[in-house]
Amino acid sequence: MINIGVLGYGYWGPNLVRNFSRLTNARITWVCDIDQKLLADVPRLYPTIQTTAVFDDLLKDPDTHAVVIATPVSTHFPLGHLALKAGKHLFIEKPMTMTVKDARFLTKLARKKRRILMVDHTFVHTPAVEKIKEILRSKTLGTLQYIDCVRTNLGLLQKDTNVIYDLAPHDFGVLHYLLGRNPTSISATGASPHNTGQEEVAHISAQYGKNLFVHSHVSWLSPIKIRTMIFVGTEKMLLYDDMESSEKIKIYDKSVSVTKNPKLLRQLRIGYRTGEMVSPHIPVAEGLAGATLAFVKAIETKKAPASDGRAGTDVVGVIEAATKSLRQKGKSIRV
Ligand SMILES: NC(=O)c1ccc[n+]([C@@H]2O[C@H](COP(=O)([O-])OP(=O)(O)OC[C@H]3O[C@@H](n4cnc5c(N)ncnc54)[C@H](O)[C@@H]3O)[C@@H](O)[C@H]2O)c1
Repeated sequence: MINIGVLGYGYWGPNLVRNFSRLTNARITWVCDIDQKLLADVPRLYPTIQTTAVFDDLLKDPDTHAVVIATPVSTHFPLGHLALKAGKHLFIEKPMTMTVKDARFLTKLARKKRRILMVDHTFVHTPAVEKIKEILRSKTLGTLQYIDCVRTNLGLLQKDTNVIYDLAPHDFGVLHYLLGRNPTSISATGASPHNTGQEEVAHISAQYGKNLFVHSHVSWLSPIKIRTMIFVGTEKMLLYDDMESSEKIKIYDKSVSVTKNPKLLRQLRIGYRTGEMVSPHIPVAEGLAGATLAFVKAIETKKAPASDGRAGTDVVGVIEAATKSLRQKGKSIRV
């Protein structure tokens, strides 16, 4: 049985407690939040869980093997550092830290302490993303040329980070898992229409080597929630719509072909192919169910999970570079 303490019981913490509590081989021992009012419900919902406003209570408990950090992003590094120093396994919310320097430090410390460090790139642990990985591996889409991601909804505006730090880790976490690498260069633009000091909407363009271009649109200023990723290949196109309850993935037998007419130099011959759409069956599962299970499995098997410290560090590299570019009016930044 893996005993886990959860730090941060605001918006996301309760979802983590609920999902970890469902696992047969894990148990939540503590929930900690500096705002004690938020803990009032815990004893009623989970009579065996202890609550505290003092992080040290978790750290000093020898029976608590792992810590889950679901506090604001700017606190991830100092709190994660304390957890690893105390010898706990660490599940840390996305994005792992504010800077690559801090993410590297935690990754090294976890390795030195022989502890599992997992970043909650939630969607990486879903059946839909696993299916896309299988489809890409099979080359059903041909060669990938372009990926277009849209992740928008109304809020939740964060005080300590911009929309890139809040939403882009989902897209780039999934892309890191699917492509196994980071972009080579990034440029981003964005705006803060409400002058909050944090960009509320942003467009990120990422180049993966010479032949793959990715665009990610992230926004807190949308009346509707959109969670789509479109993968364009030389043979077919794939739509991943996480808001769809049953048909999350659709593969369209559509493509564009452009060939140069050898007789008329510089003249392009453009063809459009339109065929059937198929939607593979995907088991229905809450994203967080897979992530929480992956963490416990990693501790039990002593094997790094898919979204480990290295993946977390790479994703922080992308969002740090995107924010740097945004502050320099879209200048291209090498990642
Ligand atoms: N994986 C996902 O899909 C997903 C979704 C939402 C949020 N998140 C992440 O979860 C984290 C928390 O986000 P949120 O929306 O729940 O924020 P929130 O502000 O609603 O909750 C954070 C909680 O942490 C508490 N806290 C702050 N400092 C603390 C400390 N030192 N010790 C104990 N408690 C402390 C606050 O009192 C608050 O209750 C962020 O990193 C965010 O990016 C992830």
